Amino acid sequence: MHERFRYGTGNDLLQKAKELGLELPWSDDISSLLMPFDLNGFNVSNRLVVQPMEAHDSENNGSPSELTRRRYLRYASGGSGIIWYEAVSVVHEGRSGPHQLWINKLNFDSFARLNDEVREHASNQAPDPFLVIQLTHSGRYSKPEGVPKPQVGAPNPILDKTTPVILTDDDLKRLADRFVESARLAYRAGFNAIDLKACHGYLVIDLLAAKTRENSIFGGEETRLRFRFLLETIDRIKDYVPEIMITTRLGISDLYTGGFGVDADGEPDFTESLQLVEQLASRGIELLNITMGSPYHNPHVSRPYDTPVPGSKVPEEHPLQGVMRMINGTALFRERFPGLAMVGSGWSYLRHLAPGVAAAVIGSGRATFAGFGRNSFAYPSMPLDLMNTGKAAPKKTCITCSGCTRLIRSLRPGGCVIRDREIYGNELKKMIADGK
Ligand SMILES: Cc1cc2nc3c(=O)[nH]c(=O)nc-3n(C[C@H](O)[C@H](O)[C@H](O)COP(=O)(O)O)c2cc1C
Ligand code: SF4
Repeated sequence: MHERFRYGTGNDLLQKAKELGLELPWSDDISSLLMPFDLNGFNVSNRLVVQPMEAHDSENNGSPSELTRRRYLRYASGGSGIIWYEAVSVVHEGRSGPHQLWINKLNFDSFARLNDEVREHASNQAPDPFLVIQLTHSGRYSKPEGVPKPQVGAPNPILDKTTPVILTDDDLKRLADRFVESARLAYRAGFNAIDLKACHGYLVIDLLAAKTRENSIFGGEETRLRFRFLLETIDRIKDYVPEIMITTRLGISDLYTGGFGVDADGEPDFTESLQLVEQLASRGIELLNITMGSPYHNPHVSRPYDTPVPGSKVPEEHPLQGVMRMINGTALFRERFPGLAMVGSGWSYLRHLAPGVAAAVIGSGRATFAGFGRNSFAYPSMPLDLMNTGKAAPKKTCITCSGCTRLIRSLRPGGCVIRDREIYGNELKKMIADGK
């Protein structure tokens, strides 16, 4: 049964987990989160990651705006070892909204300037953060002019609200060119790595799941065809921009029928996701960011929460079950591929107790890094507090109220309506006043 977070101490939390039959990991010692990590020669200062968080606040031309800059400078001074930039579109028509970041040859220098500033503002307790850019096409969730313009690899009756455009093989070939070119621009802008986003129902994972796509070199029953877009794009980037590290944020199971990493009933079946990771590893990929589910269809899977967005059903499962599903899923992949570093996701529900759980997970090798999404909007300086006081401050954490999701769903600038109230609390008020 769903329940709001109401645990003061690790013991309270573990007691609840026990009642639910969950073996939630816990450590009073959080030092594993503060250990450096050698990522192919790059010394990442600690195991804390700002997860990619779209905030719909770019300039019209896709460049970072003043609000974007403010968000990233807050991350930079907060002490995370990795800052994983949000989903940045590779083409205008694949933007999730008219203010999604979009990298292109006319504006890549604005990303370079932001990266320079981010490095300058990095805390001296975590100097030189590792910067990843998440490259994407929003696929079924594209809204480049603010109205839905779904473009898919294959239709899915569970997800499609209107008839989507099915991208042709030629469209996909042109799109692959854009990914490759964007990787080059990202390198010139000073990113350490590019992430080919393959999760949360957007285009690349849609193609991984596109079994019903017909007469195509990018889909059908065979994994060889469905994996092709991602793997060939990686191969091409490796040839064209060999200097940049490549990673992917991978949805290991969508948990809906017709999705990736599921059986016929939409339950997790990791057979194909494991096969894909095997192929990624054989291409020398060294870092994965693991996630699951779809924020549109089953948001409690990718981000366990207290309060759903208004109009959505309260999920039946307890949020701790969602947290545990993510921990176990990542652990399984780590166990099979111990040479691959992996970021674990979905911790923000745990509020000030998240570091105790994450430290046990990282300490036991079930993930390599702990990535914080909503909590980075709310409390970007949590890493510094962990370094300086050994704990997270309960009054600063995310309370998983879904306010930030409400903002970006209504195509407004996103951030924490609770802990960064002056800007985003006011945005929410304006949104409500506008009747959205
Ligand atoms: C407002 C919002 C925007 C998000 N944007 C992205 C994104 O751009 N790319 C991505 O991979 N995940 C995105 N996510 C998912 C988060 O990165 C993260 O996986 C999720 O919030 C669960 O982690 P948490 O419990 O720490 O919040 C977004 C989530 C939210 C709430
Ligand atoms: S608005 Fe703030 S408190 Fe609410 S979910 Fe988003 S980050 Fe968390």
